[in-house]
Amino acid sequence: MESIRLKGIPLPVSRLCAGGCPAGEYGWGDVNRDDIQRSILRAYELGVNFFDTADTYGLGRSEENMGDTLHSVRDKVVIATKFGVRVEGGKTFYDNGPAYIETALHASLKRLKTDYIDLYQVHYLDGVTPADDMMEALLRHKKAGKILSIGLSNVTADQARLFLPYKDEIATFQNHYSLAHRQDEADMLSVADALSAAPMTWGSLGQGILTGKYDASVRFEKNDRRSRTIYDNFYGDKLQKNLSIVEAMRPIAENHGVTVASVAVRFILDHLPNSVVIAGMKNASQAEGNAQALSFALTKEETAGLEEVSR
Ligand SMILES: NC(=O)c1ccc[n+]([C@@H]2O[C@H](COP(=O)([O-])OP(=O)(O)OC[C@H]3O[C@@H](n4cnc5c(N)ncnc54)[C@H](OP(=O)(O)O)[C@@H]3O)[C@@H](O)[C@H]2O)c1
Repeated sequence: MESIRLKGIPLPVSRLCAGGCPAGEYGWGDVNRDDIQRSILRAYELGVNFFDTADTYGLGRSEENMGDTLHSVRDKVVIATKFGVRVEGGKTFYDNGPAYIETALHASLKRLKTDYIDLYQVHYLDGVTPADDMMEALLRHKKAGKILSIGLSNVTADQARLFLPYKDEIATFQNHYSLAHRQDEADMLSVADALSAAPMTWGSLGQGILTGKYDASVRFEKNDRRSRTIYDNFYGDKLQKNLSIVEAMRPIAENHGVTVASVAVRFILDHLPNSVVIAGMKNASQAEGNAQALSFALTKEETAGLEEVSR
């Protein structure tokens, strides 16, 4: 399994990270808990040792599923979770304040059934809490051994600059990036360079469209977030463009005897140096399909073709 080192984390992490949003059992259509837990174990069996979740995914359910499933192999895996989205009285706020961090951290530790979190990420910047206040709180928890390292998420290059004084402490940042969403590539490379932090990509499979299983008639039920047009990968011109990207991926997948999904993952691994690709999964077969990305290399011509069609 290809792996990289992240600041503060003793274990090397696999460059494929298993995404735990569907493990929240909310907003991804019909999701079965047994399937979710089996997918986590299958990813681990295949050499994935890096797992991403957040306290908001299913309001804690994803962390519980991760905790239940990974408990017995805790010292062999690297768990990343996130804080910063506070849900109160049915309303959602961004909150990066020290008091909320304290509450959120202890709740996550409990749900994850662990006494430390390997990578603690701020899900969204709240635009109010000074970076110094948030970082000082996080560094206190790091000193106490509750977290091993710190990550950012959904940051622009301008926002990342606020963290330059803490460059040695920021291990990663998570942003939206895939063959279907390349527009922020320059920004991501500049954040990675400025902070010497590893980019982690979300939306790596275009929320599923880059797996090759959907066509122009794709529709989602109300209990699936992708029924909302804000998930624009599945609507209008964007959908048409994504389907043309998929048509370019199919012969590549056939050539290597791998899944279309794994071609989407492989492209990012090759394209963003020192990156980690997060891929969401709902069952063991998806975990297997995504892990195939680590078993082949794209030819120069294949890379150029994907580069062209996704530009
Ligand atoms: N930092 C952030 O703000 C942020 C935001 C979003 C996500 N994330 C992280 O990134 C992870 C990935 O989520 P995402 O929204 O970015 O989705 P994604 O990885 O682009 O797509 C995941 C979806 O694709 C389908 N799929 C996955 N593997 C497949 C395979 N091998 N074959 C066929 N279908 C497959 C599944 O849905 P269907 O089977 O229903 O199609 C799955 O739920 C999340 O779990 C989370 O950990 C972070």
